Amino acid sequence: MCGIIARIGQGEAADTLLTGLENLEYRGYDSAGIAVQNGSGVKVHKCSGEVSELKSQLDGQPHGNLGIGHTRWSTHGPPTDENAHPHTDTVGDVAVVHNGVIDNYDELKADLQAKGHEFESDTDTEVIPHLITEYLDDVDDTEAAVRQAVDTLEGSYAIAAIVDGEERVYAARKGSPLVLGLDDEEWFLASDVPAFLDHTDEVIYLEDGDLVTLEPNAYWITDLEGQPVDREVDTVDWDPEDAGKGEYDHYMLKEIHNQPTALSNTIEGRVEDGDVAFEDLPAGTFADIETVQFVACGTSYHAAMYGAQLLREAGLRTEVIRASEYESTTGPVDENTLVVAVTQSGETADTLDAVRTATDRGARSLAVTNVVGSTISREADDAVYIRAGPEVGVAATKTYSSQAVTLSLLTQRIAADVPETTPAADRDAMLAELQHLPEYVEQVLESTRAETLAEETLDSDSYFFIGNGLGHSVALEGALKFKEITYEHAEGFASGQLKHGPLALVTEASPIFAVVTGDGDEKTKTNAIEAQSRGAPIVAVGPEEHALVDVADEHLSVPATHPVWAGLLANVQLQLVSYHAAELLDRPIDKPRNLAKSVTVE
Ligand code: AGP
Repeated sequence: MCGIIARIGQGEAADTLLTGLENLEYRGYDSAGIAVQNGSGVKVHKCSGEVSELKSQLDGQPHGNLGIGHTRWSTHGPPTDENAHPHTDTVGDVAVVHNGVIDNYDELKADLQAKGHEFESDTDTEVIPHLITEYLDDVDDTEAAVRQAVDTLEGSYAIAAIVDGEERVYAARKGSPLVLGLDDEEWFLASDVPAFLDHTDEVIYLEDGDLVTLEPNAYWITDLEGQPVDREVDTVDWDPEDAGKGEYDHYMLKEIHNQPTALSNTIEGRVEDGDVAFEDLPAGTFADIETVQFVACGTSYHAAMYGAQLLREAGLRTEVIRASEYESTTGPVDENTLVVAVTQSGETADTLDAVRTATDRGARSLAVTNVVGSTISREADDAVYIRAGPEVGVAATKTYSSQAVTLSLLTQRIAADVPETTPAADRDAMLAELQHLPEYVEQVLESTRAETLAEETLDSDSYFFIGNGLGHSVALEGALKFKEITYEHAEGFASGQLKHGPLALVTEASPIFAVVTGDGDEKTKTNAIEAQSRGAPIVAVGPEEHALVDVADEHLSVPATHPVWAGLLANVQLQLVSYHAAELLDRPIDKPRNLAKSVTVE
């Protein structure tokens, strides 16, 4: 939540900062701002609203070769101009952008106010520039003052700061992501790589406790004691094209259509001679594992349900726990417990917290993530990448498909190591069909009737999604996507649960999207008929020859395949229904209200 960027080098900084912020808007879009340094002081430009609003308010490009920028998801204080970042000290000589939450800002603010500092915003961030100024009086060296300031902060932060008259950018991180981008003639700092991917793919992922100082021709990293720190330079293998919208109106639509490619990348090299292989997880890796706990939030939780069901079927004790509930709901954990953290961004605070709690209790951890260098990939004992490529739309689409496939394969890999498990009887057929999944998704995208269905059901009161077994995961995901981007009431249920309460909500104005996979669909059929008897239109979503074929009022068909993959094809249809409904309702599809892609606060 919140995106920060900084740039220093030859030439003007403003344009790069603004483009970088646009690429970071998936992290928040309540307000935007930049500060540039141009020989006549630090100039701050900021306003509530999106980066486009900030651009329209700028009277030409502000001049300066170095600067910082911010796009906000509000935590402390409403999305007003005053609360927009950058924030400055009383005289405006120090400007700071921040992502994170400062827990002790109340007491720091009171102390600073008592010393004469004047504040203008409700934010926690504003204490940081004031602290830097305060310490500058003591140490007369800005780097030391920044170090002292961040050392005083409790909570989480990635910050970047500039100071009047200095050809430098200072930055530090603890608990919030920060990556350094290295080009020939300029350096960048940002919350995430897409901010500067147009310029460079050479990066350094900074670690907690790092403080970096950038000059036009040099940079150095130190720790909180001021000792030099060496960090490895990585090359990012994301294509800048992947981070743009291309020919599509929205990132979400582009990412839905990118699924055949994403899935091919996810699968590549992971099924060989009928066996599942993960490069860094050789045979025997999981030999001691007795219990597996999946932890995740939102869409990633729904994907985790996929992995959990398959592992349970193989005979291993398995739980799937919403990460935010982990601390209070998990059963006993020991060194034979594997905690699998499923998170697209690798930065979700609830998921990171769950893994830290599990680690403290003695469990082993494995991250399943999309983002190389993310916090989870560095904190977990092992990491597996879903290889979906950058996802910018706040509504996760291609990453759900790639997560579910990765987890389905991972469960086969884990089960192969644990002697007590039984491989699925049709495992070979399942793995063989997986190779065709990208082309099946392509067929769905080419022949879908999702737009027509979205139009036909547009005036409904509520939208219900039901499914059984793996179809339950898809039903929950279908409902989450629908509510997230249309703002309409949508709920997902295990088919058999409909009659235990939700049926009271069912009317002729509440279409039921029934997910069928070819496995366990009888329950879905019975419950769909019960809803239909109360007037609800039934839309069957699944392979053409399915249990509901004579019952459903409408069909969204997918190619016939193994039941494990049929659910994922059904999900593509549901993604498209949500997309088209949101488009017909004229919703801001890529930036749904109140949301941010990466939820880095609890
Ligand atoms: C999905 O459309 C959501 N934007 C959200 O539920 C998301 O999946 C959740 O916040 C978890 O994010 P993560 O995968 O990055 O951990």
